[in-house]
Amino acid sequence: MDYSIETAPLEELQCDCIIVGVYQDRQLSPSATALNSSTGGFINTIVSRGDLAGKNGETVLINAVPGGTIERILLVGLGENKPLSGKNYKKALLAAVNSLKKTQIKSVVCCLAECDVTDRDMQWKSRHIVEVFNDAAYQFTYTKSDKETEIKIEKISIAATETERTAANFGLLQGKAIAEGMVLTKHLGDLPGNICTPAYLAEQAIELGKKCAGLTVKVLEESDMTALGMGALLSVSRGSRQPAKLITLDYQGGEKNAKPIVLIGKGLTFDAGGISLKQAQGMDEMKYDMCGGATVLGILLAVAQMQLPLNIIGLIPSSENMPDGDANKPGDIVTSMSGKTIEVLNTDAEGRLLLCDTLTYAERYSPEVVIDIATLTGAVGVALGNVAIGLLGNDDILCNELTAAGEIANDNAWRLPLWEEYQELLKSNFADMTNSGGREAGTISAACFLSRFAEKFRWAHLDIAATAWRSGPTKGATGRPVLLLSQYLINRAQNISG
Ligand code: BES
Ligand code: MN
Ligand code: ZN
Repeated sequence: MDYSIETAPLEELQCDCIIVGVYQDRQLSPSATALNSSTGGFINTIVSRGDLAGKNGETVLINAVPGGTIERILLVGLGENKPLSGKNYKKALLAAVNSLKKTQIKSVVCCLAECDVTDRDMQWKSRHIVEVFNDAAYQFTYTKSDKETEIKIEKISIAATETERTAANFGLLQGKAIAEGMVLTKHLGDLPGNICTPAYLAEQAIELGKKCAGLTVKVLEESDMTALGMGALLSVSRGSRQPAKLITLDYQGGEKNAKPIVLIGKGLTFDAGGISLKQAQGMDEMKYDMCGGATVLGILLAVAQMQLPLNIIGLIPSSENMPDGDANKPGDIVTSMSGKTIEVLNTDAEGRLLLCDTLTYAERYSPEVVIDIATLTGAVGVALGNVAIGLLGNDDILCNELTAAGEIANDNAWRLPLWEEYQELLKSNFADMTNSGGREAGTISAACFLSRFAEKFRWAHLDIAATAWRSGPTKGATGRPVLLLSQYLINRAQNISG
C-alpha cells in the first residue's frame, strides 16, 4: 500500500474514491461542504434522502458523481459535531475501510484528518489513519491458493492543508513503520505451527537483522542455554523434537552508554500443554502462543524504520510444548538459571518456565526497564475480556506510562495488583515455588511467579492471551500490543530529545 499526503484542492483530485465525514443531523464536514459546492449540491441531495444521519460508523458509498474527476464518494458518519474521542475516531476510520471491501476501488483520498479529535494533533491523526487502514486491509493469504484480497486499495492519500503538511507527513512516516511492524506480527502469528517453528522464528529474526540498520541478531542454541544453566527453559523443549532457540535482537539507536529497554516476548510456536495435555477443542489456536515474540519482532522493525534514538534489546525464548517420553512430568523439579528451584505442578504452565530464565538472562544488559509480552494465562480473558491487555509490574511509573500509551494508541492495557498476599499461591512443599497457582487469580499468580525473577530491575508484564488474536469466524492475529508499545517507545524517545 502506498501512502502520501495530498494538499491539492479536492475538485482537482483524481482518485477512485474520496472519503469525507458527515456529522450528526446531516451536518457536513468542511471537505464534504466543499465537495457539495463543487458538485452543485450533490451531497446534500443524497444526504437529504435520509440514508445517512451522521451517526458514528455509518457509511454510504456514492457510486456515481456528476462532472469532475472523482469517481465515487464515501460518506462516513462521525457522530456529534464536536471533537471526537480517539476511540470514535478509530471507529469511523474502521467503518470507512470496511465499507470499501469487495469493491474495485484502488486509489482513495481520505479527508478525515480534518476532524478535530480531543487532545490529538495532526501528526497523531495522520499516523492513526495509516495504522487503521493498513490493519483493516491485512488478510492472510500465504497458505491459500487464491491470493486475492477483499480490499484492492493500492494508494491512500491523506488530505491536509499546506501548513499541516509537515506534521501530517511525520505522522504518515511513523504510521507506515508501525503498520509494517504490525503486519509482521500478525503474519507470524497466523502462520501454522508446522511452518513457524522456533528455528523458523529465529531465521525470520536473522532476516530482520539484515534488513534493518542498527539491528544485530544472535541466536542462542540449546548448548548455549545449557552452559548458562537455563534448566527451566530447557525442561520445556525437552518434550519436543524442535530444538529451543533464544533469539536476541540488539537495536542501537541511542547514545552508546544509554541503558537499554529490554523487551521479552514469549515464543511458544505451539503449546499442546505437554503431559498436562490441553483439550482438543480450540487447540489449533495455540499456534498463537508465540504472539509475544512476534510482537517483539514487529516492534523492532517499526523502531528501526522510525530510527528512534533508543537502545532496545529484544529477547525471544522460543520452543514448543509437547507431550513426549522425555517431557516434563507433573511434580518434576527443575532448577532455573537464577538457582531457584521450581516444582512443575502443571506442564501447561510452560510460558513462565521460559520467561523466568530469560528474565534472569536480561540482567546482563543492566536494563533501564524490562517489559515482557506473553500469551500467559487463559484467566486474563476471564478478568478483562478481549478489550484490555492485562498489565502487572513492580514499578508504578512504568505501569502508568504503559497504561497512558495504550490510551493514546487505542490499544488499552489495564493494571492488576501484584500484592504479596498472592505470592502464597506459589508455595511448594518440595521446591522454592510451584509453577502453577491454581484457577483463582491465575493471571496474578503467573505474574507473581515472574516477579521473583525480576527483582533486580524495573519490570512490567503484558498478558496478551485474550487480545493477541480473535477466535471464531474472524479468527486471526490482531497485532496487539504493537500500537501500545510503539507509542510507549515514541514517548520515551521524545523525553530524551525534548
Ligand atoms: N498459552 C497458555 C495460555 C492461554 C490459554 C492462552 C488459553 C490463550 C488461551 C499458557 O501456556 C497456559 O496454558 N496457561 C495455563 C496456566 C495454568 C496451567 C496455571 C492456563 O491459563 O490455563
Ligand atoms: Mn500452556
Ligand atoms: Zn502457553
